[in-house]
Amino acid sequence: MKQISHLDDIPSTPGKFKMDKSPYNRLRWHSSLAKLTFWSFVFLALIFIFFFRSPSSSTPQALSDPSRRYLQNYSWGGAAWEKRVRSSARIRSRNGMSVLVTGAAGFVGTHVSAALKRRGDGVLGLDNFNDYYDPSLKRARQALLERAGVFIVEGDINDEALLKKLFEVVAFTHVMHLAAQAGVRYAMENPSSYVHSNIAGLVSLLEVCKSANPQPAIVWASSSSVYGLNTKVPFSEKDRTDQPASLYAATKKAGEEIAHTYNHIYGLSLTGLRFFTVYGPWGRPDMAYFFFTRDILKGKTISIFEAANHGTVARDFTYIDDIVRGCLAALDTAEKSTGSGGKKKGPAQLRVYNLGNTSPVPVSDLVSILERLLKVKAKRNILRLPRNGDVQYTHANISLAQRELGYKPTTDLQSGLKKFVRWYLRFYADGKKSGV
Ligand SMILES: NC(=O)c1ccc[n+]([C@@H]2O[C@H](COP(=O)([O-])OP(=O)(O)OC[C@H]3O[C@@H](n4cnc5c(N)ncnc54)[C@H](O)[C@@H]3O)[C@@H](O)[C@H]2O)c1
Ligand SMILES: *[C@@H]1O[C@H](CO)[C@@H](O)[C@H](O)[C@H]1NC(C)=O
Ligand SMILES: *[C@@H]1O[C@H](CO)[C@@H](O)[C@H](O)[C@H]1NC(C)=O
Repeated sequence: MKQISHLDDIPSTPGKFKMDKSPYNRLRWHSSLAKLTFWSFVFLALIFIFFFRSPSSSTPQALSDPSRRYLQNYSWGGAAWEKRVRSSARIRSRNGMSVLVTGAAGFVGTHVSAALKRRGDGVLGLDNFNDYYDPSLKRARQALLERAGVFIVEGDINDEALLKKLFEVVAFTHVMHLAAQAGVRYAMENPSSYVHSNIAGLVSLLEVCKSANPQPAIVWASSSSVYGLNTKVPFSEKDRTDQPASLYAATKKAGEEIAHTYNHIYGLSLTGLRFFTVYGPWGRPDMAYFFFTRDILKGKTISIFEAANHGTVARDFTYIDDIVRGCLAALDTAEKSTGSGGKKKGPAQLRVYNLGNTSPVPVSDLVSILERLLKVKAKRNILRLPRNGDVQYTHANISLAQRELGYKPTTDLQSGLKKFVRWYLRFYADGKKSGV
């Protein structure tokens, strides 16, 4: 019964009380009645602590600590909860893996979780269901995964007690870390949410992973935004990544450095994936292709950015199924971590890959494709690209991922958007979902 570990701080041997060493206490101590009373008290105290901690509450201990301020009071723990956790993470195929997927109610997390489950791997999700965008979309994704047999634990990656508990219940072989505060522009509005999830949260997760026995191999989402103000295209993994254009990019870059540290000190196997503008069904409402679709259908004017001198703003849009294949390939080729008992035993794998599509499309072309698919003319308002984090151009060199992961994107923007639009129209058709 692992819950006993909660009691580790409590002296369990009477010797530590040093009571019988004291001449003042000796007399009383030697009375067996006193002894009986004492041990009954200890026993009752233990029972009390056990029940108090057992359906564990992740109550923030220090609400004044800014990194903990986002922690809500999720309830987790208890026998029924553990049973669901175990069942969701159970491997159902030969040589399968058991994967903890953070950010599982998110766009990429939902697709990756479903794909892993389909091929027989054990999957457990973790997500805090924050309201950065409409949480009802996250709930709908959760329902989808629920039907596929994937349980999403509600909690924050900063909650180390929860993470430890999960590793006590399941010996995860892999962690697919996708939980993050995404979005480039929102970083000016709410910078601390980026520090909370992308830096503090990453460290909290790696702390628990490095102490786990066995240590899992970790694959996590970095971002193409680490290339920042680079103008040399296509972006290759060896290019400089020290001039981020947004706080979001800076936290992803920090993540890559933090990954290096945990690999170096603790022997954690770590693979960072630099995603390039991922889109598709169940996508993120804060991304242009999504809100353009919504606004074109509503007859609302959409703002399209252009760079100085009518320079084209373009993105290397990558379809979700291609990204999922890249994620699974990264998990499949991840070597084991080498540490144990929190100590490094030998060198471990440390990798970074671009996962893009290698064909940048101007945002104005994206709008034209949407117009054709939606059969509605967009009201376009051309604006200068503000200096608030967005870069002008992204283009991935994927030859490294191609060589080492067998990664090969197969969906062009036209076909991918067709699938997105079909999903969008069906999902928001009943009018009950606002499409916010
Ligand atoms: N979609 C893209 O185009 C893109 C591009 C580059 C990188 N990425 C990265 O890929 C990952 C997945 O992105 P996505 O598009 O699915 O985003 P998403 O916002 O849909 O998914 C992230 C999920 O993580 C959860 N989450 C956030 N902070 C958390 C915390 N502290 N504890 C627990 N859960 C938390 C959110 O509730 C959300 O469901 C992110 O790391 C993102 O930065 C995405
Ligand atoms: C969490 O619990 C604490 C103390 O029990 C309480 O003060 C706080 O308001 C709760 N927060 C939420 C978000 O429910
Ligand atoms: C792409 O990256 C590879 C290294 O993975 C490099 O050898 C090659 O020159 C790059 N191609 C371009 C066009 O930059």
